[in-house]
Amino acid sequence: MTNSTNKPIVVPIQRIETNTPSTKTFILKVPSIAQQGKPGQFVMVWTFDNEIPMSLSNIDPINELIGISVKRVGPSTEKMHFMREGSLMGVRGPYGSGFKIVGSRILVVGGGVGMACLFPLILQLIEAQKSVTVLIGALTKEELLFQKSLQEYTKYDNFRLSIATDDGSMGFHGLVTELMNETLQKKTFDQIYACGPELMLKTAFNIAESQNIAFQVSLERYMKCGIGLCGSCCIDGHIVCKDGPIFDSQVLRTMNEFGHSKRDPSGRLIPMTD
Ligand SMILES: Cc1cc2nc3c(=O)[nH]c(=O)nc-3n(C[C@H](O)[C@H](O)[C@H](O)COP(=O)(O)OP(=O)(O)OC[C@H]3O[C@@H](n4cnc5c(N)ncnc54)[C@H](O)[C@@H]3O)c2cc1C
Ligand code: FES
Repeated sequence: MTNSTNKPIVVPIQRIETNTPSTKTFILKVPSIAQQGKPGQFVMVWTFDNEIPMSLSNIDPINELIGISVKRVGPSTEKMHFMREGSLMGVRGPYGSGFKIVGSRILVVGGGVGMACLFPLILQLIEAQKSVTVLIGALTKEELLFQKSLQEYTKYDNFRLSIATDDGSMGFHGLVTELMNETLQKKTFDQIYACGPELMLKTAFNIAESQNIAFQVSLERYMKCGIGLCGSCCIDGHIVCKDGPIFDSQVLRTMNEFGHSKRDPSGRLIPMTD
């Protein structure tokens, strides 16, 4: 579902939350996206000189608000980090497939800013009374996205949260995929959802496959149109902005590029390095 014109809707930023030293969440009032958006979908964000994809990290149809959580990595995200409440931002969408809600014993694995697309999914799973275990990984405790908000949900019997940091500053000392391995030795799950750096996702997928557990992942590829026209986001013949960004085990098994290569802005295939 899209807005009927695919033109950006320009709105003032309602609120800005600083989540970590590198990530800020921007809250916007966009009724059409707030009402149609589903966990796992994304919007194209227009910064008036560029347009970049961002997952919906907050979907609030009652107050007609959406959130995007932006990690500062280059020119466009840097520009967004300089914006203030009241500054204008353009958005179009929501685009792409959302996560499919399946299974009852759920493991959610998020690395870094990958938690952005998982956060609304987690809320949906808790509300649906699923048994939910979330593993959050980051380089340091300061970079753990949404850790404080998620900590509050541990009051519910159906929700567990574990932390992994690469430097050992909080929780498990090591990679979130190592924590995933450890968690799977203690508990059984029938569905895993993951988002984060692609090499982490590839490892997580291999672990899920070795244990025969269904897996859904959000993939990122270079996007220009966001609506299936330009082909810049192709992976093994799949159009990520339209067929994805959520892909399940069945499709991932057929992909050669997943965890190996991606296309640069000119369409050239380059090795995956993170
Ligand atoms: C479906 C999807 C959802 C995403 N959700 C989030 C999110 O919730 N939060 C977040 O912080 N980031 C998200 N990203 C990544 C985000 O789009 C890039 O970090 C951003 O475009 C970087 O732009 P830049 O100008 O700041 O950096 P640059 O220096 O231009 O690029 C930094 C990195 O971002 C990638 N990138 C740049 N432009 C694009 C583009 N048009 N499409 C895809 N990747 C690009 C580059 O390939 C490079 O790896 C998402 C990407 C996709 C495809
Ligand atoms: S970004 Fe143009 S087809 Fe996906």
